[in-house]
Amino acid sequence: MKTLRVNHLLGIKDLQPEEIQLIFETADHFKEVINRPIKKVPSLRDITIANLFFENSTRTKLSFELAEKRLSADVVNFSSSSSSVNKGETLIDTVNNILAMKIDMVVMRHPNPGAAHFLSTRVNSRIVNAGDGTHEHPTQALLDAYSIREKTGDVAGKKVLIVGDILHSRVALSNIYCLQKLGAEVKVCGPSTLIPKYIKALNVEVEPDLIKGLNWCDVANMLRIQLERQGGGHAYFPSLREYTMMYGLNKERLDRLNKEITIMHPGPINRGVEITSDVADSDHSIILNQVENGVAIRMAVLYLLASKIERP
Ligand code: CP
Repeated sequence: MKTLRVNHLLGIKDLQPEEIQLIFETADHFKEVINRPIKKVPSLRDITIANLFFENSTRTKLSFELAEKRLSADVVNFSSSSSSVNKGETLIDTVNNILAMKIDMVVMRHPNPGAAHFLSTRVNSRIVNAGDGTHEHPTQALLDAYSIREKTGDVAGKKVLIVGDILHSRVALSNIYCLQKLGAEVKVCGPSTLIPKYIKALNVEVEPDLIKGLNWCDVANMLRIQLERQGGGHAYFPSLREYTMMYGLNKERLDRLNKEITIMHPGPINRGVEITSDVADSDHSIILNQVENGVAIRMAVLYLLASKIERP
């Protein structure tokens, strides 16, 4: 298979393992490209891409824009905070107005689960989900798995512990789908109030004890507590201090393990809450490798989806 079966990237749930491997092989090529003195290829010079961000982003937004420019696409950026959405315009009206400007592909982040799917049923452009509420963040999961592959040689057979706010995390759900499709074993760890009830149906075990989880895993992916999705305050645990005591990763906890593990974080990091600075910045951490790999993975996704667009 040298092409994706899907026409849009809405979620990892829709991908076959061979499609993920194809994205990785394509990203290997683009990773070599972005390390050349001239970091640009003409692959998408006839393609126009709109980046629609209805929710805050640093890494994903910059990474997609850089990936598009490295592929020579024309790029337009939209941010809801400075748009007519604030005057009451709906998602579909906003998007239809943007598409009237002849846009081939849309990269969208939106606070509502299913927003990317909704868009894909109503417009002709290729849609890439850059995070839809608490649902999926497919390119984050792809770059995470790609970074594990780069660091350890293969994802298959690895034990990955995802720690923190699983309930509100699109990164957790997409990572679970992606890692399992590639043959890894996944456990989650966190306060029971932040573990979704459906987790067992995903064939994922819950490990309530962080130390036991760290001793089990090869890779620990530390997630941020998403206070912005928790209705204000700490409704799910007594205090951030107590959360950190129970589930925060620090050097002492890492040093007490009888083996070396790889530490990941999708960002943004709340230093001193889910992870201390000495761990985030240590040799065990691949956090900045994840960011670097995000550009190559997003180039691969855009390139493969664009290859399915009919071009003269
Ligand atoms: N990891 C991630 O999605 O970060 P941003 O919210 O900054 O894009």
